[in-house]
Amino acid sequence: MNLKTTYLGLDLKNPIVPSASPLSQRLDHMKQLEDAGASAIVMFSLFEEQIRAEAESLEDMLSMGTDSFAESLEFFPRASEYSVGPDAYLNLISDASASLDIPIIGSLNGVTPTGWIDYARNIQEAGAQALELNVYHVATDLNESSVQVEQRYVDILKAVKASVDIPVAIKLSPYFSSMANMSKRLVEAGCDGLVLFNRFYQPDYDLESLQVTADLNLSTSHEIRLPLLWLAVLKNRLNTSLAASTGVETHVEVLKYLMAGADVTMTASSLITKGPGHVRSLIDGLTEWMDEHEYVSVEQLKGSMSQSAVADPSTFERANYIKILEKNKAEYTLTG
Ligand SMILES: Cc1cc2nc3c(=O)[nH]c(=O)nc-3n(C[C@H](O)[C@H](O)[C@H](O)COP(=O)(O)O)c2cc1C
Repeated sequence: MNLKTTYLGLDLKNPIVPSASPLSQRLDHMKQLEDAGASAIVMFSLFEEQIRAEAESLEDMLSMGTDSFAESLEFFPRASEYSVGPDAYLNLISDASASLDIPIIGSLNGVTPTGWIDYARNIQEAGAQALELNVYHVATDLNESSVQVEQRYVDILKAVKASVDIPVAIKLSPYFSSMANMSKRLVEAGCDGLVLFNRFYQPDYDLESLQVTADLNLSTSHEIRLPLLWLAVLKNRLNTSLAASTGVETHVEVLKYLMAGADVTMTASSLITKGPGHVRSLIDGLTEWMDEHEYVSVEQLKGSMSQSAVADPSTFERANYIKILEKNKAEYTLTG
């Protein structure tokens, strides 16, 4: 069984990649991920806000509670766990690159094309073999147009690309007016891979305390359909690597994502819940299924059910939406 795949120009032994999460905060956990079979590891993010506030501790930043840290707050459910300053972050990449045999992918997370981007080069120099760029921008400014929002992504990507030689992937949210065009623009601007998607952490209200809560729910496999759609649509239409992120719980989601067109499938929630050893179950499940269904390689699976490969490409578009509504009308019509 040939599980090999290529992502961002990296030859990987299989398509299972732990995505950015607290699991990459400790070398021993990273080692456990490698031992369980992970083919690469994406580090948790180094945030623009952290780099800006290098002199301050992360706890101080969070206790300021200003809007400018809203995004990082969403990603820091247990702030103390992430108390890794920029220097410690680079040291961790350096140690991991030296002691593990699999590629380490650094992660930078920010929203402005300014000085913090210099850290991309530091991450490269520390030994990362690729970089994932997460532009977690919540466009709440009434005066920022969609054109400006999109340009922000392109500008940040170009600035990062100009400062490194390693491949750069960009982790996107699905909330663009034209996901297809945005993806094309990013590829034209030099991006080597798209990670679909970033999970958008939305606030809730606690009705008793009348507080806005920012808790983080881990994902379930029910959430794969949006990334699945866009992977299937973009496969074979852009010259770039594709990574699936969100909702991989078992080998079933891995298979679906590969068939849609992913080069790798990433997972965070399932590893947090089940531990690093879960990587092995994903690989074993994938291998068994391929064996039973007479697939010999991951390459054979990749994109085999993308929009360009299926008999009826309209299944991914408006025509299918109308069909589904019509079909379900009968089923859901109330009687009596
Ligand atoms: C506790 C936690 C911490 C995370 N930290 C980061 C991060 O630092 N940078 C990032 O880009 N994504 C981060 N993510 C997002 C994950 O990498 C991933 O994209 C998202 O959780 C969807 O994948 P999943 O459904 O497998 O969890 C984090 C997710 C979780 C659950």
